Amino acid sequence: MGVGGEPLFSQMEATAARLLSSVEPREIPMGESHRTDVSNTEQPDISRRGFIRAGSAVSVAVAAGIPATAASAKDGETTSAHDTINIGIIGTGGRGAGAANDTLTINSNIRLVAMADLYAEKCERVRKSLSRRHGEKVAVPDAKMYGGLEGASKVIEDSDVDLVLLTTSPGFRPYHIAEAAAAGKHIFAEKPTCVDPAGYRVCLEADRTARKQGTAIVTGTQYRRQKNYMEAMRRIHAGQIGDVVSATTRYCTSGIWNRPRKPGMSDAEYQLYNWMHFIWLSGDQIVEQAVHNIDVMNWLMEGPPISAYGSGGRFTRPTGSQMWDNVSIDYEYPGDRIMSFQCRQIPHTKGENGSVIYGTKGTARIGAANKAASLYDQEGGETWTMKGDIGAAYQQEHKDLVDSIRAGAPIVELKETAESSLTAAMGRMAAYTGQKVDWEFVSEKSQLDLFPKNLSMDGPLEMSPYAVPGVTKLI
Ligand SMILES: NC(=O)c1ccc[n+]([C@@H]2O[C@H](COP(=O)([O-])OP(=O)(O)OC[C@H]3O[C@@H](n4cnc5c(N)ncnc54)[C@H](O)[C@@H]3O)[C@@H](O)[C@H]2O)c1
Repeated sequence: MGVGGEPLFSQMEATAARLLSSVEPREIPMGESHRTDVSNTEQPDISRRGFIRAGSAVSVAVAAGIPATAASAKDGETTSAHDTINIGIIGTGGRGAGAANDTLTINSNIRLVAMADLYAEKCERVRKSLSRRHGEKVAVPDAKMYGGLEGASKVIEDSDVDLVLLTTSPGFRPYHIAEAAAAGKHIFAEKPTCVDPAGYRVCLEADRTARKQGTAIVTGTQYRRQKNYMEAMRRIHAGQIGDVVSATTRYCTSGIWNRPRKPGMSDAEYQLYNWMHFIWLSGDQIVEQAVHNIDVMNWLMEGPPISAYGSGGRFTRPTGSQMWDNVSIDYEYPGDRIMSFQCRQIPHTKGENGSVIYGTKGTARIGAANKAASLYDQEGGETWTMKGDIGAAYQQEHKDLVDSIRAGAPIVELKETAESSLTAAMGRMAAYTGQKVDWEFVSEKSQLDLFPKNLSMDGPLEMSPYAVPGVTKLI
């Protein structure tokens, strides 16, 4: 064991082999690793979520750079616009409440029926605020608000629930996705969908399960549904700035929250509470936050990069945090194209968030959130521009998801988001270890598995120091 977050947090067990052994979805008692096998051969009864043939959702997915779902539409059965879709939230923090609000706002005939959070009282708070806004669309009985690590399984196992919103801290995501896919649920999964290679492989298996059984998985990579990003990408892919030769993307902001330990908290509870600062839960800034821009770069380049090389460091993070302050990575994409990436979270520094794409005939600039996307010719003259509306994009992902279910052409976009999440993790691994890291290695060979064994809320949990290049090993 060396100094540094990654090797000390790694679980070297053969996770992939375990995930491929077949079991039914089940409630996971406290004290067990929160993982579920995904390759159940017995497909669930999905008749209530059956499908009709329709093309609209397929074209939405294609516009977002996502291959149309491989799930074949079945004749004869439908979840029509008149059928109510019941949703359950897992993780009722800021984004859980936001995602629930988005889907209840944009979709009709949809109801919230179950909730889980580590702390049941957070479910109560969110139920109250959503009820005020959405009235009868919020129909969660007290008995369906679950706390603890086992609450997620209770929502997933609930036969009333058609669609789950997975909005916990990222470390749990692959395992919640796998469990929900195995249970035949439609899924909205926030980004990132994994923080390490082990979680990536779990996502790929869940993507295959969803395609095979015809259930949807839409992810919280909202730029793929933001109109100015979509139009810029359409124009770039159509050759309006010539051939893309390189790109730069930055996600530089001021500081991020830190939640001090409260008296009486166990190691595990503290890490779950202050999750941003523990790499097994957040993946560090590059994965947790900058994955948005990395996803845009993979969309631009039409797939993941070949390798990552870079560096970073830490100067301002609180004692005990495993996070770094900044990371800069050169990603090499096929065709000898370099994407230069940097992210930083340091208070009182200049924020920059957006991408510049260089082509043989011009340049594209895509600003984050509500900023504009614009194209320029070689003389710097603007040839096209469109303002952003991130609020609309947050809602659009939920509309596309529900429309695709009702149209019988469920969108499954987990593979693309898992690739983007792993691209981000690959950059972190390159910076933490000081090595050049290949896609082939991270996607196929790396044994890095950060999820702790025997996780329980009141259990001890090692709090390892941060990574140090040259000491932290690439595994
Ligand atoms: N798409 C976006 O723009 C966007 C914006 C913000 C956050 N996010 C993502 O949403 C996710 C949540 O972020 P947040 O800001 O809401 O965090 P948060 O801390 O506010 O909420 C997370 C909630 O999940 C709960 N939780 C954690 N583990 C759980 C488990 N195993 N079972 C049940 N509940 C559990 C926590 O108690 C907490 O209430 C993160 O992945 C984050 O990256 C995405």
